[in-house]
Amino acid sequence: MDLGNGLGATQNMLDAEIQSFFDSAPPLRSSGDVSEKLEEFVKRNSIASGNGGARRIVCVTSGGTTVPLEKRCVRYIDNFSSGHRGAASTEGTYQPFCRSLPDDPLLECFEFTDESTVQVRHSHSEAVRRAITEHRAAVEEGLLLKLSFTTIFEYLQMLQMISLSLRSVGPHAMFYLAAAVSDFYVPWKSMAEHKIQSSSGPLDMQLNQVPKMLLVLRKDWTPMAFCVSFKLETDKHILLEKADAALKKYKMHMVIANELSIRKEEVVAVTSNERISVHRNKSLGVDDVEDPLIKLLVERHSSYIKSFDP
Ligand code: PMT
Repeated sequence: MDLGNGLGATQNMLDAEIQSFFDSAPPLRSSGDVSEKLEEFVKRNSIASGNGGARRIVCVTSGGTTVPLEKRCVRYIDNFSSGHRGAASTEGTYQPFCRSLPDDPLLECFEFTDESTVQVRHSHSEAVRRAITEHRAAVEEGLLLKLSFTTIFEYLQMLQMISLSLRSVGPHAMFYLAAAVSDFYVPWKSMAEHKIQSSSGPLDMQLNQVPKMLLVLRKDWTPMAFCVSFKLETDKHILLEKADAALKKYKMHMVIANELSIRKEEVVAVTSNERISVHRNKSLGVDDVEDPLIKLLVERHSSYIKSFDP
């Protein structure tokens, strides 16, 4: 049996699927702008920091991706993610920005003092002041670059661009892939142009499988980066097994296993030889499970970087 050829054939098939996905994707509208911002951000942060070491750059993906059903999109399939995990993790690394604000800050934080003057309500003034100053500082110091996406096409095209630009950062780059990525899509070429008419009866539509890009990210796009992906399940009995399988199959450094209903309380960090339970611990004044999780990841990333020292 020629295992080498077998693996090669599987790899070729995956490469072909990935190529076909990108070929069928509508061109990223903001591609020039994204690549300019990325180049500037990576350049700025690749320069050695004050203490002589290179700065680390983490790509945090967060939120859901949509799969449009029509080119002039009225309907789409969505993948669940509130974006809380990614926001909490990013802010936890630097400063809290908007998480301490109410759900609808514009409507809840402000009030009119007379017909034309708006002011921040006293009850929210500290939270608003912190959110504005700390967010501004992170952006001005070049520590935060936010790139937004909606569709699966935008997400994966951007992920590829980011990966390729982080290649130069070597082991100082980390991927923290918390976005909920669609598994099925309608290829752009076969997508209806206009709104699908309900008068045509039940909708019968074939969806293609979205190729998993994790392996190609690890092997080809950014081979030296420290890669953390997530595994979400609703059935706790299969969660850790699936996380183990993802770790091996996609050659991740760590997979964070989370069960939907308790994802804000507990996650399990799975590595090749450990299963580390990470809990939110309110009694220690820790509000989010992301706080201890990020601490763990920073430690593991540091050891990973050190392993490249001569
Ligand atoms: O945003 P919140 O409401 O706070 O919720 C956080 C979360 C539950 C969304 C998050 O913690 C989480 O688990 N995100 C991953 C959800 C997911 O898509 O899981 P999955 O089992 O389908 O995919 C596993 C990994 O493969 C993910 O890292 C995903 O980025 C990646 N993937 C998935 C599908 C696909 N076609 N390509 C991929 O690369």
